[in-house]
Parts: sequence; C-alpha cells; structure tokens
Amino acid sequence: MHIVLTGGAGFIGSNFIKLVLRDRPDCRITNLDVLTYSGNLENLTDIENDERYSFVKGDVRDPEALDKVLADADAVVHMAAESHVDRSIMDSGPFVDTNTRGTQVLLDAWRRAGGNDKRFIYVSTDEVYGSLSLENLEIKFTEKTPLDPSSPYSASKTGGDLLVSAYFHTFGMNVVTTRCSNNFGPYQFPEKVIPLFVTNLMDGKKVPLYGDGKNVRDWLHVDDHCEAVLAALEKGTAGQVYNIGGNNERSNLELTHAILGLMGHGDEMIEYVEDRLGHDRRYAIDASKIKSELGWEPSRSAWPEALEETVKWYVDNRQWWERVRSGAYQSYYEQQYGSKA
Ligand code: NAD
Ligand code: TYD
Repeated sequence: MHIVLTGGAGFIGSNFIKLVLRDRPDCRITNLDVLTYSGNLENLTDIENDERYSFVKGDVRDPEALDKVLADADAVVHMAAESHVDRSIMDSGPFVDTNTRGTQVLLDAWRRAGGNDKRFIYVSTDEVYGSLSLENLEIKFTEKTPLDPSSPYSASKTGGDLLVSAYFHTFGMNVVTTRCSNNFGPYQFPEKVIPLFVTNLMDGKKVPLYGDGKNVRDWLHVDDHCEAVLAALEKGTAGQVYNIGGNNERSNLELTHAILGLMGHGDEMIEYVEDRLGHDRRYAIDASKIKSELGWEPSRSAWPEALEETVKWYVDNRQWWERVRSGAYQSYYEQQYGSKA
C-alpha cells in the first residue's frame, strides 16, 4: 500500500511515519509537507534513507502539487494543520486557510486522482466538541456529542471535519475521521505545554500556568495515537468517526506538579499567568467505540512511566529543541509578558 501522509514533518506525522515503516513492511509512505515553523525534517533523519519513504515539499492548498503526489496513492492520511491554540488566538487566518480550506482542496484533489473509493483519513481533534465542565466528571465526549468548537483552532479543524463528512454524504467518499485527545511524546514542538514546561525548567525559567491551573486534558502517548490512526486506516468503516483517548485525565496543575517532581523542582517554579482567552475547561474522551469496533486501546500512555520517558527525551535532546525553536518561535507567554528568566 502506498500512503500519502500530509504534515509528516510535524510531531504526530513523524512518529506515524516511523511506526508504519517499522510495523508494515509492505507499505510505502510519501510525506507531503510544506514545512511551516513546526515542520522539521530533522525529526526524520533516522529513516530518511529508507527506500519505502519519500518526502515532497508541498502545500495542501496547492492543487497542482497534490495532483502529482496523489497520482499513484492508495490512501491519504491528512494530518497537516496549524495546530497551536494560542497562535490561532493571535491570528486565525492561517488556521482557516490550512485547516478548513486546505482540507477542501485536498478532498477535491483526491477525487480527481480517482481516490473517491479509496481510504481518506482525517485526523481531527477532540477540541471540535468544545468544552466540558468540572461539575460532572462522568460526562465524556462521545462520537455523538454535538460539535461546538470554542477556539479559532478548533473551529477551523471543525470546518475540515464537516467537509469530510459532507464528502461522504455527497459523493460516497471512503472517509474515516479520528478525534483524538492531547498527545505527548518525542518531537513535539516546544510551544505545547509539556515540552514548553520541561525546556523552560532546563533553562532555569519558571513555567507559565494559565489561569487557576484546573483545566483538564486527557493525555495520550503519540505512539498510541499513531496505532489508532493505523487501525482506522486499515479497519475503520467508511463515514464513521472514532474518538481516541488515553483514559488519562489530569488537571494542568497535576501535570505541572508531575513535571516539577520529575525534574527536581518545587512549586516556586510555577508562575500563574493570565488565562488563555476562551480557555476550554475540560476535555474527556469516551473511546469505547474504537475499542469495541477496531480493537484499539492505549498501551503506552500510563503515567508516571510514559511521562517520565517523555521528559527524559527532552532532557536528552536539548540540541533538537534549541534548533527547532530558534528564530521562528516565541512563546505566548514571552510575547505577553516578556522573558522572565
Ligand atoms: P504539528 O504542528 O507538530 O505538525 C503539523 C505539520 O503540518 C507540520 O509539519 C507543518 O509543516 C505541516 N503543515 C502545516 N500547514 C501545512 C500546509 N498548508 N501544507 C502542508 N503541510 C502543512 O502538529 P501535530 O501536533 O503533529 O498535529 C498533527 C495533526 O493532529 C493536526 O491535524 C492536529 O490538529 C491533530 N491533532 C493533534 C493533537 C495534539 O495533541 N498534538 C491532538 C489531536 C489531533
Ligand atoms: P496545549 O499544549 O497548548 O494544548 P491544547 O490547548 O490543545 O489543549 O495546552 C494544554 C493545556 O496547558 C491547556 O489547558 C493550556 C495549558 N497551558 C498552560 O497552562 N501554559 C502554557 O504555557 C501552555 C502552552 C498551555
């Protein structure tokens, strides 16, 4: 099978490529990525010479580039996106353009390439469901929860999500959508909370905790997510949505304490800062459908082991994160408050 993956130079995409090459000897994979600030070919140096892998620099918004790359593909896995909520608050334009319009351009190109009956995976997010309250912790997002996104990021991902659904209903396109919770693991751009906090501490800086720190996320190891996407690709039913979660809900304060503990620091390294605008309070995933229908459940996400391994990766790979964040990157915190080392 020849898979075209969009966004394969990013965090989840680069981990997905390595998983496919390792576990699916009969697959080859083409990585189409325009290399934004978060796309980094250095994430792929260990497999770049594998003859089953190839890279094409191209944009999901560029029909001509897509026509070339999709010509002999058997399946598309669409991960390319602008992915950071804080950036979407500062400027939503690129989010709508890549996440919504880019998905439409890609869907049309896939149809032109004769892909209507071949699998198209849309890697969506649990953030399309909006926010849950902290009142009743039994309530979780199911695939039937109405879409109610609250950030420009999640609204733009919802645009793509709805277009994928529309192409199923209108054209009978062979689409499957996955909606996953927060990922952690190696090669995550250090603007997201876990690598940001670890790298700040390594630089002797405090960690900027938004608001009261009670917001809850369900943390899933990136390898578990990639396995789930592969299950959806190989076994999912066309037109269906599958939630993916880690059964691993933690408040940001619990996460922060865990990181501080692993790195030998105390509460004095927490700096409570102004809350994120429109900050979603809680995400929680009911992933029973993918377990019962596709036989997937998380096996790599349990804490403290998985978090410890991830923290250690950033500690051991200072050169990687210093290079990827140099120049292009200034954290939301630094932009709002200046650098307070
Ligand atoms: P990332 O920001 O690390 O990587 C995104 C990649 O997409 C980069 O390599 C970038 O260069 C590429 N890209 C951006 N715009 C492009 C364009 N116009 N054309 C081609 N390539 C483009 O993001 P990530 O964390 O790896 O997320 C991957 C996908 O998974 C996204 O669709 C995201 O919405 C979804 N997702 C992420 C999480 C998470 O916790 N990170 C959770 C659920 C879903
Ligand atoms: P993030 O990693 O940006 O992922 P998402 O917004 O997609 O959930 O943030 C995870 C949580 O951490 C979220 O509740 C916001 C919080 N956060 C902070 O408290 N401080 C920070 O500097 C960042 C980046 C996030």
